[in-house]
Amino acid sequence: MRDQAEELRMRMLRSQQKLGRSIAVVSGKGGVGKSNFSMNFTTTLSAIGKKVVLIDMDIGMGNIHILLGKTVPTNLKDYLVGEKTIEEVMFEGPNNLQYISGGSGLSGVMEWNDKMFNRLIEAFEYLQKNYDYIVFDMGAGATSQTLDLLVSVDDIIVITTAEPTSITDAYSMMKFIYFKDPDKNFFLLCNRAFSEEEGSDTTSRLKLAMSKFLSKEIVVLGSLPEDPVVRMSVKEQVPFSILYPNADITKKLKQMVSSFTSIEVEENDIPNQNTFISRLKNLFSRRS
Ligand SMILES: Nc1ncnc2c1ncn2[C@@H]1O[C@H](COP(=O)(O)OP(=O)(O)OP(=O)(O)O)[C@@H](O)[C@H]1O
Ligand SMILES: [Mg+2]
Repeated sequence: MRDQAEELRMRMLRSQQKLGRSIAVVSGKGGVGKSNFSMNFTTTLSAIGKKVVLIDMDIGMGNIHILLGKTVPTNLKDYLVGEKTIEEVMFEGPNNLQYISGGSGLSGVMEWNDKMFNRLIEAFEYLQKNYDYIVFDMGAGATSQTLDLLVSVDDIIVITTAEPTSITDAYSMMKFIYFKDPDKNFFLLCNRAFSEEEGSDTTSRLKLAMSKFLSKEIVVLGSLPEDPVVRMSVKEQVPFSILYPNADITKKLKQMVSSFTSIEVEENDIPNQNTFISRLKNLFSRRS
């Protein structure tokens, strides 16, 4: 599987100009709000005119389509096993957001094979050329394939809550990815914060731990409050950022989206300074 991960990275190198940015939304502990965040983050990115595709990597147990109140006839697995084309498994969400469902109601973990992995790479290439952002909602269970994917994306958005177990698990997850790729861009946010202070304490602790123990600087995106509109919007099956545009959480999310996009613009303004691309180049030259 290592060779496949390298292959994935090399392919991502090939046409590096104007490629969409790949982002994985992860957490250590499950159930911290990844799917709701991914859904609303991509909806908000789409609302400001970005071309975005959201991919539910929780294969067999995905819930992105449920959060959108859609029954989808096809999902990522149908594409991976070769039964459908990538276009056939893409559906339109709010604000022209495109999404690929992970499918739901399947028990057990999907058995990945090389063919599926190659098809994932092909989809990746196509999407990178056609979208500004490819966002992966990583789901709860990690497999070696999803971990390979994590190591290959440009950006990692890590979600934690203020609970000590969530914080330590978020740290372990970042450490795991960092050891695979020390140049990875990490963006951290605290979800379900009961106060601004609780949120900033949480993110500061993690930022400090990364800096002190791994000498790794990460970007803090801020925090999102514990807010009943999340539950209400899940029930209504409409993203909270659409159903409750004036809610505190929606305003905070918009700020996060604008700081996220501005950070990237700054990075892209500096040619040859993109550590991700440099790393890819190194990998590539070592292989050829
Ligand atoms: N900011 C918030 N305020 C209140 N409730 C929230 C908030 N964020 C998420 N929730 C609730 O937390 C629960 C879990 O959310 P979600 O499914 O997005 O988590 P997840 O990290 O994707 O879970 P999994 O690891 O199982 O994929 C949901 O019931 C959701 O309504
Ligand atoms: Mg989820």
